[in-house]
Amino acid sequence: MIPEPLLAQEHELARWRRDVPALALRVHDHPLTYLDNAATTLKPQAVIDAVTQVALAQAGNVHRGVHALAEAATEAFDAVRPQVARFLGASADEVIFTSGATASINLVAHSLGRQVVGPGDAIVVTELEHHANLVPWQLLCAERGAELRVVAILEDGRISLEDLARKLDRRVKLVALCHLSNVLGTVAPVAEIAAMAHAVGALVLVDGAQAVAHLAPAELAVSRLGCDFYVFSAHKVFGPTGTGVLWGRRELLAQMPPWQTGGEMIASVDYQRAQFRPPPERFEAGTPNISGVIGLGAALHYLTNLPAHRAAHEAALHRALCAAVAGAPGVTILGRPQAAVVSFVVARAHPHDVATLLDQRGVAVRAGHHCAQPLHGRLGVSASCRASLAYYNSLEDVRALAAALSAVREVFP
Ligand code: ALA
Repeated sequence: MIPEPLLAQEHELARWRRDVPALALRVHDHPLTYLDNAATTLKPQAVIDAVTQVALAQAGNVHRGVHALAEAATEAFDAVRPQVARFLGASADEVIFTSGATASINLVAHSLGRQVVGPGDAIVVTELEHHANLVPWQLLCAERGAELRVVAILEDGRISLEDLARKLDRRVKLVALCHLSNVLGTVAPVAEIAAMAHAVGALVLVDGAQAVAHLAPAELAVSRLGCDFYVFSAHKVFGPTGTGVLWGRRELLAQMPPWQTGGEMIASVDYQRAQFRPPPERFEAGTPNISGVIGLGAALHYLTNLPAHRAAHEAALHRALCAAVAGAPGVTILGRPQAAVVSFVVARAHPHDVATLLDQRGVAVRAGHHCAQPLHGRLGVSASCRASLAYYNSLEDVRALAAALSAVREVFP
């Protein structure tokens, strides 16, 4: 089915899988086949332990206390910022913790957006975007009297660079795009797009929510990507929910006003006015998600200590997954996926019915518009099913999905 050397050895994969307790679950009396990693990833035991440890021994607040529990929490929390910076090839003072990729994008839209976008200006997005990287820009454009331009995709799901070139001019202040599409699995040529955007003076924000768990470290290095902002969520990269990252270029962050205000983001304050701390603290109002951030640190530690061939393993599995789905009776794949995900429709069957039937055989996929309703409209469907991988998936998972899709066909002949 696929060249065996590309797959992880059986004993190695078994070890990776043992490290993730949820993979041992049984669902409707079947072994769990977890293919909904694009919605959220399962957590390695090391992440579960790190989060538990916060509740047990690092239970104080961060940056606010001198007692032992507060100092333990602060030390563990502060260690994650340079770790995230290394993961993105950036500097620690450019890493801001948020509640997720969505909050990171909203922060940029509210802070920088209101500063640089005015009447007659434009923001560029692509047809691929998740609502989180579309709606904040719609609202900003409406508020500022600016225009939202949407770059077309090609039939295979890649961004049309010709259309992008047509839509770029000096009025464009920001280009916002996803690194890896959560529906079509296409990988954006970010460096090329960033160069095109910068040539007209526009900034570039990249939604890395789907990319971080799948692309090789060199492909995530922000200096090589050439973007100005990069965002992701911890839970899509084997960490906890409710935690995310905004990376921004230091000189841009330094000029940006706070979005949310409160607690420890203040340098000094009297009853009439406040002075704000420099980034990153300026953008971290309120008690952060302490266990989420520490859990993210554990997740990145775990992931970056896996052997580099986990990416080749996943890429080989992705080819097998696409072939299996394409070969299933009555199934049509959306676009031409390049990594991690495959979205598909089954003739005469609603995606929710398909996903329910798959679930009855222990196979977890997502059904719906995957928070990308305009993209589904563009593709001429209202919804789809999506199977999505992580490094811990196996050929057995692909076979289980293929068998379950054949069974779906018996219900919807
Ligand atoms: N954005 C996530 C997904 O694509 C939730 O499923």
